[in-house]
Amino acid sequence: MAEELIISTSTAKEERYATLVPQIQFLIEGETDVVANLSNIAAALKQTMDFFWVGFYLVKDNQLVLGPFQGPIACTRIQYGKGVCGASLKEKKVILVPDVEEFPGHIACSSASKSEIVLPAFKNGEVALVLDVDSDKLNDFDAVDKKELGSLMRLIERFL
Ligand code: SME
Repeated sequence: MAEELIISTSTAKEERYATLVPQIQFLIEGETDVVANLSNIAAALKQTMDFFWVGFYLVKDNQLVLGPFQGPIACTRIQYGKGVCGASLKEKKVILVPDVEEFPGHIACSSASKSEIVLPAFKNGEVALVLDVDSDKLNDFDAVDKKELGSLMRLIERFL
């Protein structure tokens, strides 16, 4: 297993993702433990993309419970349908929020959070976890993040 992550110095996020995603594939190859894999993925995303907060919420008893993450401490439980993460669980879809102040019911784990993207990963057709990425800049996520993080979710589904 690679001990060190190769990080693209490009300012273009397409290129940073292009360097990252194959390395994540390599990192999780041959490891079946969900927490170990999610932990390394959160760290790799933080190191490469320099996100303010990046981490997973796992579905347990129809709630979201904080999983492996990188960044400031966060809310431990999110109810079904609440906040951006709970809405992604309920609606079973990716939610991109350019300005969190404009999202009704947004849960502010940190007041520094300005924009956010949440993507679900599925097991047997049900949401098993969500990836939550927060930025301290407004409007920081776009179609590139949606596509690349979406590919990552499909990789994650292989070990769920
Ligand atoms: N903002 C999220 C809650 C999770 S934290 O930001 C880490 C939401 O509204 O679901």
